[in-house]
Order: sequence, then structure tokens, then C-alpha cells
Amino acid sequence: MSHAYDDEWREEARRHQMLEVGFDQASRRCLVATGVGLGWTCLEVGAGTGSVATWLCDRVGKDGRVVATDLQTAFLEQIDRPNLEIRCHDIVHDEIEQAHYDLVHARQVLEYLSARDDGLRHMAGALKPGGWLVVESVDFCSCVPLAGEGTDLFARSIRVGLEFVAGLGFDPYYGRSIGEAMRQLGLQDVQLEGKCHEIGGQRPLTDAWPLALHRFRETFVREGWFSEEEIDALPRLMRQPDFCAIGPTLFSVRGRYV
Ligand SMILES: C[S@@+](CC[C@H](N)C(=O)[O-])C[C@H]1O[C@@H](n2cnc3c(N)ncnc32)[C@H](O)[C@@H]1O
Repeated sequence: MSHAYDDEWREEARRHQMLEVGFDQASRRCLVATGVGLGWTCLEVGAGTGSVATWLCDRVGKDGRVVATDLQTAFLEQIDRPNLEIRCHDIVHDEIEQAHYDLVHARQVLEYLSARDDGLRHMAGALKPGGWLVVESVDFCSCVPLAGEGTDLFARSIRVGLEFVAGLGFDPYYGRSIGEAMRQLGLQDVQLEGKCHEIGGQRPLTDAWPLALHRFRETFVREGWFSEEEIDALPRLMRQPDFCAIGPTLFSVRGRYV
């Protein structure tokens, strides 16, 4: 009935799908490096549509368990796995079991939270001795336009867009600080890997940035930062075959509580 809601839902699902296409492989590689396997108890924080939670369920098998949390669990309710528990849970404000999990993971969650240090501390506190914390967050350090007609507009959209979302509490450069934040919490064997993509033309993550900006369209136009024509032109120019840029890097960082 509510088209606005349907559109929002579809847009959210599309954003999640892009994350999965772009980053599931890198996430799995980092998770495999922790040794996650049969019988492990895992906590997936801010699980979104649950692609990582589903993969973890299959990986830990019938004797393992995965708790997938999010503020909004409607996407997760569609997953059918006997060893999955879905919890509506806020990693900053709600209680979580202490010293309980073999693995705690969050991807693209903490950079959105102004209380990200509390979130990270709560995640670390949920680990058993010997357990692994894996945190994956973006860092726009790599984001540069390379070729095509829309490069100036793209560069301006990055500059203005990041300043705007930073004012809302999002840290566009959080990825680089996870390793040090983990060491400060006493985690050991901290290791970091990064993954970024070319965007533009038909490449899979091309729409991610215009889609993120689209949510703030009215503000950008009202503040005079972009005209409506520019906002509409950005995704069109970025989809041109000659457009090329490097997107943000996803830092995958793991550390062990010993
Ligand atoms: C960008 S999405 C990432 C989803 C998923 N982790 C992935 O990578 O596919 C961020 C997710 O974090 C959830 N989230 C935001 N704040 C949260 C909080 N305080 N506690 C738990 N989840 C939160 C959102 O609802 C959303 O599903």
C-alpha cells in the first residue's frame, strides 16, 4: 500500500545486495583466517540481509550456533537455518552475553555509529578467551575519479557528501583506525586486509555511491550544494562506459582475545 515504504525497502535491499556482491568474498577470506569451523558459537552484529550470517551457519554446522543481530530484523526473518538465532539488538545500548562467543563479526556497522568505541568494546567483551573479533569498515582513502565526463561532479559529490554524512555521525575514514582501536582493547595478533573496486560503467558497485547520496537529495538541493540536474546526472554519468573511479576500501581487521 505505502509506495514510499516499498521504495525504501527495495532501496535498502539493493544497498545490501551490493555489499554482498562487492565484499562477501573478502569477508569470508578474513573469517576463514580465524579458523571458524564446526561447533563455533558466533555473533554477527548488524547482520543486514544476513549473507554472512547464513554462510557462518553453514560453516559452523549443526553443533555450532550463530546469533544474528540488527536494529531491524525483517530481512533476517527470511533465513531458514536451524542453528540461527535472530535478535533485535542495539550493539551500543543493549546487553550482550559476556565471554561467550568464539567469533564476533560486524561489517559496515561501526562507521555509522557515533558511539562506535562503545560498540567495539561491547563486541570485544562478548568474546571467550581465544575468541576472534572481526570488524570490517569502509575507508574512503582510496576514492578517486580516474576517467570520464563525470569526474568533476563525482569528486565534488565525494567531498560534499562525506562532509555532510560526517556531520550525521558517520566516520568515512573509520577503516584505518580499527586495528589500533583493537590493540587498545588488548586484542592480540591484529591483522588487516583491504579490498577496493573500480566503479563506473557496468561494474557491479557503480550505483552504491549515487544511491547513498539519493537519500539526502532534498537537503543537497535546498542547501544549494547541488542542482537537481546534477543529482540526476551523477548516476547517469557514472554508468557511462568511459567513466572510471576507485571506490572506497573495505578494511577487514581481525584480532584475538587471549
Ligand atoms: C550498511 S548495513 C550492513 C549490513 C551487513 N552487515 C552487511 O555488511 O551486509 C548496516 C547494518 O547495521 C545495522 N545497525 C545500525 N546500527 C546498529 C546498532 N546500533 N546495533 C546493531 N545493528 C545496527 C543496520 O540496521 C544495518 O542493517
